[in-house]
Amino acid sequence: MTNDADREVALLTEEEAATELERLATEIARHDRLYHQKDAPEIFDADYDALRRRNDTIEARFPELIRDDSPNKRVGAAPAEGFTQVRHSRPMLSLQNAFAEADVVEFFARIRRFLGLEADAEVAVMGEPKIDGISAALRYEDGVFVQGATRGDGVTGEDITRNLKTLDEIPEHLVGDAPAVVEVRGEVYMTRDGFFELNRKREAEGAAVFANPRNAAAGSLRQLDPKITATRPLHFFAYASGELSEPVADSHADFLKRLDAWGFRTNPLARLCKTPEEVLELYREILEARPELPYDIDGVVYKLDRHDWQDRMGMVSRAPRWAIAHKFPAEQAQTVLNRISIQVGRTGALTPVAELEPITVGGVVVSRATLHNEDEIARKDVREGDTVVIQRAGDVIPQVVRAVEDNRPANAKPYVFPTECPICGSLATRDEGEVVRRCTGGLICPAQAVERIKHFVSRNAFDIEGFGRKHVAAFWADKLIESPADIFRLRSRVEELKTREGWGEQSAANLLDSIETRRSISLDRFIYALGIRQVGEATARLLARQYGGLEEWRAAMAAATDERAENREEMKKPELVGEAFADLCNIDSVGFSVADAITDFFAEAHNQAILDDLSEELEVVPIEAPASTSPVSGKTVVFTGTLERMTRNEAKARAESLGAKVAGSISKKTDYLVAGPGAGSKLAKATELGIEILSEDDWLGLISSTA
Ligand code: IVH
Repeated sequence: MTNDADREVALLTEEEAATELERLATEIARHDRLYHQKDAPEIFDADYDALRRRNDTIEARFPELIRDDSPNKRVGAAPAEGFTQVRHSRPMLSLQNAFAEADVVEFFARIRRFLGLEADAEVAVMGEPKIDGISAALRYEDGVFVQGATRGDGVTGEDITRNLKTLDEIPEHLVGDAPAVVEVRGEVYMTRDGFFELNRKREAEGAAVFANPRNAAAGSLRQLDPKITATRPLHFFAYASGELSEPVADSHADFLKRLDAWGFRTNPLARLCKTPEEVLELYREILEARPELPYDIDGVVYKLDRHDWQDRMGMVSRAPRWAIAHKFPAEQAQTVLNRISIQVGRTGALTPVAELEPITVGGVVVSRATLHNEDEIARKDVREGDTVVIQRAGDVIPQVVRAVEDNRPANAKPYVFPTECPICGSLATRDEGEVVRRCTGGLICPAQAVERIKHFVSRNAFDIEGFGRKHVAAFWADKLIESPADIFRLRSRVEELKTREGWGEQSAANLLDSIETRRSISLDRFIYALGIRQVGEATARLLARQYGGLEEWRAAMAAATDERAENREEMKKPELVGEAFADLCNIDSVGFSVADAITDFFAEAHNQAILDDLSEELEVVPIEAPASTSPVSGKTVVFTGTLERMTRNEAKARAESLGAKVAGSISKKTDYLVAGPGAGSKLAKATELGIEILSEDDWLGLISSTA
């Protein structure tokens, strides 16, 4: 289908496309509100559809520009206007991915290690297809369906009860006995046939077609009018539980049986496996069956069967340790690499990007792919003008796999990586042992400055509603925002703001309002937002928990930085650098190289200035320790010697989940040393410092006094 609008899209530059997508997102959202909430549409349906079509065409050509607030993404992203928010009683988790058979073998090995199982103990794992749809949580009270929600960000979703009630495969009443509260989770999906049929109808009506069955399912659930949802061919597979007022099964296999008995559909291909070999056999079977299945799947999920073991394994950064998604291989395609361009990231890293002749891979049009770094280009000998093999693996950015040398143009020359930053012209250098070449321009480099601010406002950092990446670049270019704190001073420039193109009184007021709501922020998000190298969300949380408040953290980091400046040569033993530095390294999972990255950050005067500046504008609040009812919450504990009733990892994870800090060595700040047989120097040091020493049983007794 080509029309004038589509032809024009083919001519858009990337920058124009980004601006256009932003305009369309705002415009379409406004018409949605007018139509659904105010019952006062301003345009004809056909014109609305043309806007949607234009948006979809641009998204198809520039998939990397698809916005978080894209009209196609409103389910599954942050709660959209028009739906009430639902806070999940238990978070809706995501899954860790496995791509190779070795990852699956390691998954089994990790379970054994974590639980400390005997070599001959049987580990049963359920394998089931990973349905490519939209997950939903269904709450039943006294056997009656009372509320259904999307996953949202995992913590808060949208109330889509009325839409879910239109699905035949979601029972209104559970059959037979059920506890007072039962929350069933599963996947809403559309069959491929249903999807094609729906698109045929939409095309005939002149409406925008959906890109794939997953988007179609999402779009159908997103309808504010459930009557529309009811006309869509949606299905549901149940596969997990959320809140349960009492346990309903001891194993996942039994739980699936309960789901069946209550009247849900569970996936008929699910099978209990006892060894990595059995699991891999199931994987191959499902991969082979994939083309014949009526719906899209993108891998196989493996779940540890025993519920008591699932509980013991717990989770790590929003994914359970007891499950894994074994993804199907990436889909590949060949196209021409027109040019290699260089992007500069927030830490100054120069990343080569392949600018490709657009091509469809796995249902998505790809026009750019990553080449990773200088060494990778050299290793693969990829040259401008080459025909290359590219692939998309799941949601990952497309990659260039290799060059097809037989098709190489005669004049293609080996690529020479720049030694100057293409943005600011500063020298770009490579540290010994590093693969990444970095711009040395720091904040005088516009690319770094802009990327840092983009990170600052991103979803897991300040998460300022209505202030996306594209705004940052535009505001920066016009000198409205030159450093993070400027965001919080924007209100003094409201006149300039509301007279900007595409802005007005109301949109400026909305933005300033959402900025105000973020003037108070938790310390962990604040630390993460700074974008310090090697400090991700998990480390930021540990730091926040360890140091409590912003001032305390800054003081401790300043001390560690001074110590590091005086002892630059020391590369191994944190104690030899100094006490504050050692304390920092001692935080579990921080270690020497992360501590170095943090002190490097604090050693830069301009970073200190940014912190001073931000402190003037913000209130940074300490984070709440989880499970504050636990007697060990907030305490620092060290484990040493052999543990007999649990593995070291399990002990650590359990302690952390109760709000304790686990350290690797003894210091004055240690509250408990849990010592098993064979404890040596740590036990001696703890005794010397008068630290409370517990046996493994004492420790278990202490933590089980928690509710
Ligand atoms: S279990 C605690 N089982 O995959 C584990 N998820 O990447 C929760 N999904 O958000 C998920 N099929 O939307 C599970 N058989 C299956 C699944 C499945 C598809 C989706 C689900 C989840 C995502 C995680």
